Amino acid sequence: MTKAKIIDGQALAAGLRQKIAEEVQGIQTRHGLTPGLAVVLIGEDPASQAYVRNKCKQTLEAGMQSFEHRLPAETSGEELQGLVGALNEDDAVDGILVQLPLPEHIDPGAVLGEIDPDKDVDGFHLLNAGRLATGNGAAMVPCTPLGCLMLVKDHLGELSGQRALVLGRSNIVGKPMAALLLGEHCTVTIAHSRTRDVARECARADILVVAVGRPRLVKGEWIKPGATVIDVGINRVEAPDRGAGATRLVGDVDFQEAVTVAGAITPVPGGVGPMTIACLLRNTLIAACHRKGLEKPRL
Ligand code: GUN
Repeated sequence: MTKAKIIDGQALAAGLRQKIAEEVQGIQTRHGLTPGLAVVLIGEDPASQAYVRNKCKQTLEAGMQSFEHRLPAETSGEELQGLVGALNEDDAVDGILVQLPLPEHIDPGAVLGEIDPDKDVDGFHLLNAGRLATGNGAAMVPCTPLGCLMLVKDHLGELSGQRALVLGRSNIVGKPMAALLLGEHCTVTIAHSRTRDVARECARADILVVAVGRPRLVKGEWIKPGATVIDVGINRVEAPDRGAGATRLVGDVDFQEAVTVAGAITPVPGGVGPMTIACLLRNTLIAACHRKGLEKPRL
């Protein structure tokens, strides 16, 4: 039985963080500047709290300033927009990230639209989404799809002409992922919950990126032998084999099956997740250099 190469997101992310830390050090030495990232978290969602904790920790480890803003779940949209406005004006802040999802009563579009596009390290502002969609090099690129693309390129090198399927059509992952792969001259298909015969679509793909939030949805028999599989899903499921009440994290791909068919596959955890935060640090560094008129770092 063939076994896919396991794509080590942890290792690639560590290498990228190292390069970022060196660039940050260089900017400090040469210009006396320290890039800063502000992260805003509304409410008490445990998964969001864990993500934000990790983002702030890694920001500091890269030698950057971290500004953490935790607000209660009852915070109004106007209050949040007010904070974003203040962060836009704060010269020590190069990047602003408002953790999603927001509470029901806050319109995410209104908040994301308030972020200064030059500080939009998530790449969710319409200006940056439009730049990415039109192939404009000034786009701030959303971190998760950017991390996925780096993993794919690290494994495959040149992607021109490859057939890619993106499963999932969210604004955060699916749509920007498709734009990035198109930018690499792939033949790109986006599939989603209304797609007829998803399995057949998957089976044609040399590159398969899955971001649907459905544990182990993609089966081994859906995958083209030798394909490169990027699993964005992080789903907590019950794990009775580990004892009563125990849980484990699984992706959107059935890893045990897929690993016998694919050419390469990302594990969950340890695949896409570490790359997402490393790309957030990359975007913050790039935003800082752009705002201060410094040369774009080579990353
Ligand atoms: N929630 C889940 N993924 C993300 C992300 O990439 N950025 C933000 N701001 N919130 C998220």
